[in-house]
Amino acid sequence: MKKKLLSAVLSAVMVAGLVAGCGSAAAPAADAAAPAPAAEEAAPAAEEAPAAEVVESAEAAEEAVAADAGASGDVITVGFAQVGHESDWRTASTKSCQDVFSSANGYDLSFVDCDNDSAAQLEAVRGFIEQGVDYIIIDPIVSTGWDTVLTECEDAGIPVIVIDRTIDDSDKYAAWVGSNFLTEGKAAGEWLKAYAEKQGIKEINALVISGTTGASAQIGRSDGFKEIADREGWTILDEQTGDFTEEGGQQVMESYCKSYEGKFNVVVCQNDNEAFGAMTAMDNAGVKYGPGNDVILISFDACTAGLEDVKAGKITADFECNPLAAPFVEEVIKTLQSGGTPEKEVYMVEHWYALPDQIVDFSVDGEAQTMTEVTDEVIAAQY
Ligand code: AHR
Repeated sequence: MKKKLLSAVLSAVMVAGLVAGCGSAAAPAADAAAPAPAAEEAAPAAEEAPAAEVVESAEAAEEAVAADAGASGDVITVGFAQVGHESDWRTASTKSCQDVFSSANGYDLSFVDCDNDSAAQLEAVRGFIEQGVDYIIIDPIVSTGWDTVLTECEDAGIPVIVIDRTIDDSDKYAAWVGSNFLTEGKAAGEWLKAYAEKQGIKEINALVISGTTGASAQIGRSDGFKEIADREGWTILDEQTGDFTEEGGQQVMESYCKSYEGKFNVVVCQNDNEAFGAMTAMDNAGVKYGPGNDVILISFDACTAGLEDVKAGKITADFECNPLAAPFVEEVIKTLQSGGTPEKEVYMVEHWYALPDQIVDFSVDGEAQTMTEVTDEVIAAQY
């Protein structure tokens, strides 16, 4: 295990990062739905530092660290076992990590695209242990089956940082940075309740296209939406997986259009790429969706293309999942490098998007939510 103490310069950066990070990286779950521009709130901690002086000195110190690492060869090695490349969200997540853990920033990143294959993901982690990397980042495809390999990481003395999806059967990791998927699912349900009331819609017959079965993003969004559906007495006609892909969304929707023709008025896609596929299938079947049409289309992620479809009046409401976790992961690594203990859970800040006529007041678990209007500016700032 190559645990190396970096220079005094790095310590200076870490201290600056930690001070600047207070109240941002460690945002509590409730902040996930706070009403402010996502890009600003999810920006790296240093950017939120109140004093320009701190930012400047942190930036200068970071440059010095990069130079120092380059000069001494004392780079930090990081292995990242990524889920795959199934969605726009995933592409943004990968880019975020590659940008932050670049050689210019003093890192040597080993990246493995696990192509949505859980066995390949375990193999990738074991490969990182063999390489003797300093840190391992895992975005777990599914939430269970992790304790053995995390014990192996622990035995090798390699800290693990989990991002995005959760690991639910082991706590042998240093920190997790990700989204509150249950809140996302509940927000979609509570929004639908308020919007249906506004529209005078009395009956909800919903079709759900879920994400990869067993992924915490799927479990949270399914459970959250179902909780509201059960409470309100709505009918969920069917729920089948589209594996978070456009192709999967199209296939499931094609079959729904045949099996439930004329019987549904809500389609919930658990990510934007599934929604793109579902829209193709509905177009082909002559089903009209979006505001003012027969079918309310709900989506998650709020990537650029998803918000463009909200603006175009196709997706009725889009619930953000923020993929830009890497700067917060770097804060965790800096804390560990300095011998500190990072926050165990860091929640990304997320927003709920619609056009003005679809913006309604609602709350999640008693907490009032604010929706963000989709404008060209908002779309341009998204990932
Ligand atoms: O885990 C996050 C989910 O996985 C995103 O919603 C989806 O787009 C991705 O593939």
